[in-house]
Amino acid sequence: MAAKGSRRFPYTTVKGFLLLICLIPLFLIGWDLRNGSLGPDPGQTITETLGITAFQLLLITLAISPLRKLTGWAGWLRFRRMLGLFVFFYASLHLLAFLQFILGWFDLWDTFTKRPYIIAGALAFVLMIPLAFTSTKGMMKKLGRRWKPVHRLIYSSAVLVWIHFLWQARSDITEMVLYGVVLAILLAARVYWSGLSALVPLKKVGN
Ligand code: HEM
Repeated sequence: MAAKGSRRFPYTTVKGFLLLICLIPLFLIGWDLRNGSLGPDPGQTITETLGITAFQLLLITLAISPLRKLTGWAGWLRFRRMLGLFVFFYASLHLLAFLQFILGWFDLWDTFTKRPYIIAGALAFVLMIPLAFTSTKGMMKKLGRRWKPVHRLIYSSAVLVWIHFLWQARSDITEMVLYGVVLAILLAARVYWSGLSALVPLKKVGN
């Protein structure tokens, strides 16, 4: 019997709230679309909003491990999978919006290889695909010790997303530099606690 006063953390409730919070950007896009307040080029605004949301959620997902180390609370890890899947969700919508509103569905090879920043974004997205498909508990079990090395692809993907973000900038890069600083801090924290090899994908190491 549980000791009096020792309440279990309400993971399910918090996950429910987190789910709603993660859906807010999508809701806001829908709201602005309905009210016609997406500016002169709604397709461009939608594509950019979905891209920045995916990147922000990616940074939050990468912050989970350092948060666990800093606070000593392993409960943070229970939210990582949902956040990671939302990164993939928004990145997929960003890609769909780009095809639908900006460049169209024809000559896809030409579209993806024409500009260097698109190549970086496409590579980042491709690296996310195995992560999304191996995120289930069943796949975790099936992959066993190979799961972590595969999921370290997220660090390479994050760097590629940042390059994509920086490269598409037209003039002022202040925002890109700030996001770069946040990403650098998160990668440095990983190296500090787990060593440089903990950033290398597909390589078997302790962590
Ligand atoms: C095949 C994959 C991808 C394509 C084709 C693509 C395409 C684009 C395009 C067309 C833009 C707008 C550039 C402009 O303003 O002219 C953009 C911006 C952006 N993309 Fe991507 N992208 C891809 C993957 C990703 C991924 C995986 C992420 C993040 C997880 C991402 C995050 C961003 C961000 C943060 C921006 C800047 C948004 C802003 O200006 O606020 N992209 N991308």
